[in-house]
Amino acid sequence: MNASKYGAGLGLSHMGAVALSKSDLYLSLKGWDALRDFDLEATTLWDFPAQSPGSVEFGDHHFNGVTPAGIVTNLVRRYTRPGDLVVDALAGSGTTLDVARSLGRRVLAFDLAPRRPDIIRNDARRLPLPDDSVDLHFADPPYSDNILYSDDPACLGRAGCREDSFLESLEAVAREIHRTLKPRHVLGWLISDEYRRGRFTPLGFQTFEMLAKYFAPMDVVSVVRRHDRSANPMWEHRARRYGFYLRGFKYLFILRKPDSRVAEGVFE
Ligand SMILES: C[S@@+](CC[C@H](N)C(=O)[O-])C[C@H]1O[C@@H](n2cnc3c(N)ncnc32)[C@H](O)[C@@H]1O
Repeated sequence: MNASKYGAGLGLSHMGAVALSKSDLYLSLKGWDALRDFDLEATTLWDFPAQSPGSVEFGDHHFNGVTPAGIVTNLVRRYTRPGDLVVDALAGSGTTLDVARSLGRRVLAFDLAPRRPDIIRNDARRLPLPDDSVDLHFADPPYSDNILYSDDPACLGRAGCREDSFLESLEAVAREIHRTLKPRHVLGWLISDEYRRGRFTPLGFQTFEMLAKYFAPMDVVSVVRRHDRSANPMWEHRARRYGFYLRGFKYLFILRKPDSRVAEGVFE
């Protein structure tokens, strides 16, 4: 699929809402039904017992590394209006696509290894989108090389998070997100620390510091980690016995692109 045609159309009249087939429309209506009564979070501790609320599936809960739909729902409903453009540059199984569509937003999803025809093959370090064109970016990149997403050497998850190249790649993604996001609009970025083979890597803090070079932090949310492979009695036993902790949460960083036309530090 030619990604550039999507970028070329952005912000132009023919971009409009993504055309929906009859079955997509049915899913959207059911999805909207599932999400409209979904309470928005009021605190900075988010805990979603299931990947998707109710009986409708957003993304694919079997996908290793899938994002809880509640995270995207909260961001889309809080920071966009119907018709706004939502972009996920590392879309995985398409959770952002399904949530944003169900809520009547326009949405573009990219991934190096697309798993659905409505996800466009693209490296997140070079987005085929014009400057200042996106209303909301959501990013849930690999956290290290713990999951094999694809054999593509450009996959961010081919390097461990202790390697310098890992954070450099995340920064290249952040720069593209910054370029394409409209001023004063929001980025939600999900990330986790790593504890592996006796060594802790504070990837959350490192990523936050990197993002703060480009964006103004609005808040930090802790999202309870559930359904991880390590969430079982054997790993819990090992954690107690060998004196380490299993990761219990992920960070959701909520940041805004500063508006260069407005005096620094002035945000709504
Ligand atoms: C944690 S998963 C995203 C999960 C997704 N939000 C969902 O709900 O299914 C990370 C994704 O990043 C993709 N990825 C890794 N490197 C990439 C790159 N350089 N450009 C675009 N996508 C990349 C992987 O293929 C994987 O699908």
